[in-house]
Amino acid sequence: MSEKATLTWGNGRAAEFPVLKGSVGPDVIDIRTLYSETGMFTYDPGYTSTGSTKSAITYIDGDQGILLYRGYPIEELAVQCDFLEVAYLIKHGELPNQAQYDDWVMRVKRHTMVHEQLARFFQGFRRDAHPMASLVGVVGALSAFYHDSLDINDPEHRVIAAIRLIAKLPTIVAMAYKYNMGQPFMYPRNELSYTANFMHMMFATPCEKYEPNPVLVRALDRILILHADHEQNASTSTVRLAGSSGANPFACIAAGIACLWGPAHGGANEAALAMLERIGDVSKIPDFIARVKDKNSGVKLMGFGHRVYKHYDPRAKLMRETCYEVLAELGLANDRLFKLAMALEKIALEDDYFVSRKLYPNVDFYSGIVQRALGIPTNLFTGIFALARTVGWIAQWNEMISDPEQKIGRPRQLYTGATRRDVVPMGKRA
Ligand code: SDX
Repeated sequence: MSEKATLTWGNGRAAEFPVLKGSVGPDVIDIRTLYSETGMFTYDPGYTSTGSTKSAITYIDGDQGILLYRGYPIEELAVQCDFLEVAYLIKHGELPNQAQYDDWVMRVKRHTMVHEQLARFFQGFRRDAHPMASLVGVVGALSAFYHDSLDINDPEHRVIAAIRLIAKLPTIVAMAYKYNMGQPFMYPRNELSYTANFMHMMFATPCEKYEPNPVLVRALDRILILHADHEQNASTSTVRLAGSSGANPFACIAAGIACLWGPAHGGANEAALAMLERIGDVSKIPDFIARVKDKNSGVKLMGFGHRVYKHYDPRAKLMRETCYEVLAELGLANDRLFKLAMALEKIALEDDYFVSRKLYPNVDFYSGIVQRALGIPTNLFTGIFALARTVGWIAQWNEMISDPEQKIGRPRQLYTGATRRDVVPMGKRA
């Protein structure tokens, strides 16, 4: 007999709703019959207390700073696995054995090239187009090329669409960068690993041999692992909502990219680095902190705070370690911005404004510094985030399509506008 939650309202009216339990984490109150039983909706702007779905992919405990992909702690995955291995885990639910891994890698590598005509889309953009604008357009345009994998009810179509997106996002992100640079696109080199190939497509030119630095490749691979999925965040919820209407997977991922672009979400790494550049020097930190505390300033400490983590984001710790490794490898251990970021973090974590609001560094606070050290331009940071999060988005989209309980997403509202009134002819209006 499942536990019940009782709602009482009005003149002694009451209704009961089942309490559902997951494998770990908060229980949920199943309110699917709330409107039919009470004539009322819930009200939860930003969905701070709303569970939109069941999911078995990622678990976050914001108070304990825990992040699990299919039950495995991010701290272990980021150190013991590579990105494609984690992508297999997130998509299939289990870590691959060697044969499964080799087959998966081979299948992804078979799809790293894009249709030659897709390259022409870039000609329509200005050379200084923000890469996220190109990504939204070009990824959405993939649906014009793959009519053989758009039937979302065909499991095989869903598999091939997932592999195409995971395989082609690095190629398209690198193309957006090369287009900005005015350099020729570089074809994938399938003898390289997934992340080494991405660095090749980003930094190689036809003029000279380029061999990615293995330490830097490993660092970027870890950054991709840290960004692969994160439960029902804004962009993942966007992908699910778009998918709930039956839209094809390429269009859904393009919608997720558009949402991720926002500075409150995936755009925060770009904004955090710009913030550090604006502060400029440790001596300016107190003034900046004062402006953050002044609500009228509208200034936020970018890379700090999180809707779920009210403790240290476990990814931020791993990102800081990666940052240190990369800077040491490049002989930049005294990097001005890294030292400024650590000083800012220390001051913030000792300041009651941030401590009382449980504002800690999130995944975006250090990721900009390490990506900048890797030679990635600031305006491409969110594109790298989108490249990694495509794995989570497509796994979450698949889970939704396969869920018999899912239906088209259609929230309701509390209406506060004008009640019914008649149109007054133009000549009689005030
Ligand atoms: C990502 O959801 C995910 O999982 C996202 C993500 C993922 O992997 O998908 O983790 C990736 O988006 C990480 C977050 C990146 N964004 C930033 O770093 C931008 C800066 N952070 C803030 O914009 C903010 O913290 C949010 C948007 C992340 C969370 O916003 P909330 O939930 O509305 O914040 P809150 O309600 O918990 O804030 C509580 C208080 C408020 O002040 P009071 O009204 O109590 O006085 O803290 C303040 C907020 O104004 N606050 C901040 C702050 N974040 C919250 N004050 C200064 N600087 C900040 N960064």
